Amino acid sequence: MKIDIPTERNHFLSRLNRDFTVSSSDARNIVSHFHRDMERGLRGKRSSLAMLPSFVGRPRGNEKGKFIALDLGGTNCRVLEVDLDGRRTASITAASRFAIPREVMRGDGTWLFDFLAGCLLSFFQELPVDKRREQVLAFTFSFPLAQRSIASGTLIRWTKRFKTSGVEGSDVAVLLSEAMERRGIGFIRLAALTNDTVGTLLAGCYADPACDMGVILGTGTNACYLERSARIHRAGLASRPGEMIVNLEWGNFNRLKTNRYDDALDAASLNPGWQRLEKMVSALHLGEITRLVIREMMEQGLLFREAGQSVFSEPYGLTAEDLSLLALDRKAFFTRACLADAAETDRDAVFEIGRLVTDRSARIAGAAIAAVLTWMDPDLKAGHTVAVDGSLFEKYPGYQARIMDALGSLRGEGAAEIKLVLTRDGSGIGSAIAGAVAAAAKR
Ligand code: BGC
Repeated sequence: MKIDIPTERNHFLSRLNRDFTVSSSDARNIVSHFHRDMERGLRGKRSSLAMLPSFVGRPRGNEKGKFIALDLGGTNCRVLEVDLDGRRTASITAASRFAIPREVMRGDGTWLFDFLAGCLLSFFQELPVDKRREQVLAFTFSFPLAQRSIASGTLIRWTKRFKTSGVEGSDVAVLLSEAMERRGIGFIRLAALTNDTVGTLLAGCYADPACDMGVILGTGTNACYLERSARIHRAGLASRPGEMIVNLEWGNFNRLKTNRYDDALDAASLNPGWQRLEKMVSALHLGEITRLVIREMMEQGLLFREAGQSVFSEPYGLTAEDLSLLALDRKAFFTRACLADAAETDRDAVFEIGRLVTDRSARIAGAAIAAVLTWMDPDLKAGHTVAVDGSLFEKYPGYQARIMDALGSLRGEGAAEIKLVLTRDGSGIGSAIAGAVAAAAKR
């Protein structure tokens, strides 16, 4: 039987629309499930949100001096020298970036930490520091950490593309210090260990005291916020006065309406069952979800019947950068994909799929931000500044506006202003601030 392609394609696309839409009631559900899981996590009960205490609170803004930060992110490692002027301005005075080889991400733990110590060593070969004086190092580790102090923390589980053996369950501060010793970098003292979201919030808060939430929307996704210690019923913290930053690890939130592409992506991933929100929202996975939809349409004969198809055959061959290009300059995207001659209707369909997938990501992120802000301030009576970093937020056309839309639809009458502020390099700068706070506390 011959299929009527235009009709079938329209059916397919309308179903897709339903599969990827986050309705207002879905968004409200996300908010209430977040609140429930945040509450459970803070009590140390089973929850998809780990709610990890960071052992650092709001900086004063007068922290001062030069600090070294080692920032291990999703794909790169950076070493930075950060200058804090003591009057709310932080600047990067030296920086080196190192790509993390795939073998290091999937190999043995010792390789990874030797690699990181090697990055520090090569940074110090370039930088004229007085090696007779102890240098304070802050380590940004962008993975879930169970901390018992600001300078120590056990890796709970790898996320993103990492699967290095022998690190889960170990204190990464100890592993790094041992590797630095092996490399003979004895003049460095590790003073602080922070998640990248915590760094971003600290950087945001150093510049603007109204900042009380940090978010990463990049290769991975996560958030943290300032919590009253009295609400953290863990590790004896509830009896402490004041506030502490809590890392939600929201990438693992698992009460979302998933579809068959999400389930296929999860089943084929390095960590099936974990990081379900991250797999629907973060830059690492958006291209792959889009590719899975395109593949299915191709298999059903609804797309690219004549054109070359190989660009969509490789898992993770389509990236979030490709999707940004598709949104910004369709012609350039299809030329790069060798599909410049494909039918207009096929190109329109691909454009629409990319839009649906990224739109959903921004809507979920918007609902998740609303959940955390309303946890802190149920009627949003005070103004809030959210420090955000990450390629998706910074570079994807229209992404920030979509988050603001989603937030707007969840805010009640009379809610005060919410500002999302791009906090570039926040993870490294903020970790240096944590180093300054920790060094001051030791004095
Ligand atoms: C990690 C978080 C991190 C986020 C952003 C996630 O995969 O679990 O700890 O903050 O990525 O880098």
